[in-house]
Amino acid sequence: MGYELTAEGKKYAKIGLPEVRLLKLKSPIDIREARRVVPELNIAIFWARKQGWIEIRNGKIYILKRPEVPEQSGLERIARGEKVDEDLTKRLLARGLIKEVRKVGKIKELTREIIKKNLWKGSTFTSYNIQIIGKREYPGRVHILTYWIRKIREIFFDLGFQEAEGPLVESAFWNFDALFVPQDHPARELAATFYMKRPKRARIPKGLAEEVGRTHEDGGVTGSRGWQYRWDRKKAEQTVLRTHTTSVSARMLSQLKPPAKIFAIGKVFRNETIDYKHLPEFIQIEGIVVDESVSFRDLLGYLKEFYTRLGFRKIRFRPAYFPYTELSVEPEVYFEEKGEWLELGGAGIFRPEVTQPLGIDCPVLAWGLGLERPIMLRLGLRDIRNFYYRNDLSLLREAKWQ
Ligand code: PHE
Repeated sequence: MGYELTAEGKKYAKIGLPEVRLLKLKSPIDIREARRVVPELNIAIFWARKQGWIEIRNGKIYILKRPEVPEQSGLERIARGEKVDEDLTKRLLARGLIKEVRKVGKIKELTREIIKKNLWKGSTFTSYNIQIIGKREYPGRVHILTYWIRKIREIFFDLGFQEAEGPLVESAFWNFDALFVPQDHPARELAATFYMKRPKRARIPKGLAEEVGRTHEDGGVTGSRGWQYRWDRKKAEQTVLRTHTTSVSARMLSQLKPPAKIFAIGKVFRNETIDYKHLPEFIQIEGIVVDESVSFRDLLGYLKEFYTRLGFRKIRFRPAYFPYTELSVEPEVYFEEKGEWLELGGAGIFRPEVTQPLGIDCPVLAWGLGLERPIMLRLGLRDIRNFYYRNDLSLLREAKWQ
């Protein structure tokens, strides 16, 4: 806050306050004579008499004291932009000789107050370099995998699928036996599968388990030869971290009535050595189409449609083998960065040894696809470990995945 002189204040700063000019006259002096020299004589008399500097007798002014008048030097100091004490400031304000001014330097930001009080008048504005790059802000974002999971769910909902889920800690029965994976299959070995110490045993469906067992042994109701070995219920009761979401499909098949289209997206676990394309835990996108009228061509069509919607053009299908499907394929996309084809998962038509014991008597198209690999390709990442182990915030901040 500062003060400046009013018009009257400026005048008196220049010619002297009325009482100051009065005190400079001879004493005594005739009132009329004094008024000729000091036209504001009434003001001069008012203040000088108040202070006891003058007396008036018989039409004459008698000057009793000729002191320094602090108001006069106060005006001069304020005119020079100096400060005066509070008491004097109050008196000058009361006499209307000075007024408050808000000091405005260079205006940086035009506020409501500056406009309302006309403070911008006569001020200059700070100039801005509008070319300069501002500070980057990083608002919260969903994780890349969350984003894509949501997108993929939308794709399957669009195609008329329903979503299912199942437990991460699964019985060997749903993870392997129901899928006609023989009990001595290498995929079941410790080197490939994580077994749980607790719970040691899982509850598996009575009757159905034995039905599945007979299919393993000699084909059971299916009329095939089966695997020709002695099936062990105890092995089916072992608990594992599910190695694929195909366990969810097996569970669904035991419950549903055709026709049905079901998908599941979830974590799976494998005892893998970590490298740029392998993780011991990753996410799979599982799907089944249970319908009297579908064929292998439909399976390729669904897969192609899915990858096209994800934005891939260059895909191919390789013949493959799984204990639970025939025909079987592995969809692959070309990985430009590494100059190689990358396997994206597996697919096929479930064998009767899988479907019949579960009570299904029509074709079942099935697939289990990796989630991280295609996303890694979409984002131009060279290494799948980025998603889980690098904790590299810039991946989330900079990724243009939307
Ligand atoms: N379960 C297979 C895997 O994890 C994929 C698959 C699912 C293959 C369904 C055929 C049918 O690799």
